[in-house]
Amino acid sequence: RIAYVNGRYLPHAAAGLSIDDRAVLFADSVYEVCEVKAGRIVDVRLHLDRLARSLAAIGMPWPLGRPALARILVEVAARNRVRDGLVYLQVSRGAARRDFYFPAPDVAPSLVVTARSVDRAAAEAVAAEGINVVTMPDNRWERVDIKTTGLLPNVLAKEAARSRGGREAWFVDADGLITEGGSSNAWIVTQAGVVRTRPAEQGILRGVTRTTLLKLIEEEGLALEERPFNVDEAYAAKEAFNTAATALVMPVVRINGRPIGAGRPGPLATRLRRDIHDVAE
Ligand code: PDD
Repeated sequence: RIAYVNGRYLPHAAAGLSIDDRAVLFADSVYEVCEVKAGRIVDVRLHLDRLARSLAAIGMPWPLGRPALARILVEVAARNRVRDGLVYLQVSRGAARRDFYFPAPDVAPSLVVTARSVDRAAAEAVAAEGINVVTMPDNRWERVDIKTTGLLPNVLAKEAARSRGGREAWFVDADGLITEGGSSNAWIVTQAGVVRTRPAEQGILRGVTRTTLLKLIEEEGLALEERPFNVDEAYAAKEAFNTAATALVMPVVRINGRPIGAGRPGPLATRLRRDIHDVAE
């Protein structure tokens, strides 16, 4: 495998960041995960738009211009012969002696890009079964709109969910409302057939897959409500699903072990999974 680090393409095992890198010391870094399909980066414009927001939110400069970044994403996928898979991009505030204050302006940001293939058949098998999600208190900070690598709460929630037989955690806020998944956005379909997901302005990451799915839902003329829902509303839903670049549209068939709807992937989730690439860029 080949990784890109600060201007160089290196064998994965030989690639690395300084132990003084602020990604290592402080998680002072932001990232993107993009789907690769047929060698193309899916929704690259939306991913770079979100990267722009993350960088601006933490006062970090662009490591390179957008066209250069887009080229590197494609190049890393190509050099790893990834036709269907994922590319990972991470920008940190660079390497400097450990000090909480931002480093001097001459310290260059660090840029890492890696890629890997995904076993589509295995992923489709998981989607055909659907997954169980486990609810967890949302103990994250307020700026979950920033796609930072500071993901310890997500790591702990997902691991706790896994230990209870879940493949994903669903975070629940202090009002009992579901915010989002540990690494996905959360959706339900009500018994009335309304697709419901939390507004992106309130305590969630604005998922690129979420944005693209909203476009598909609009094009299909489906009933949609961007409004938070609580755990009981999720239990009572006809269908539930998650979205993420790593999961596309993933049917949720159980929440805390309780079957949702028929306890099988719902027809709408299944169709949206099949059709989402029709509207992706
Ligand atoms: N995570 N919410 C959270 C907390 C996430 O970490 C992610 C994605 C999403 C979905 O965003 P998108 O549709 O742009 O992938 C929502 C990535 C995939 C990850 O950390 O692996």
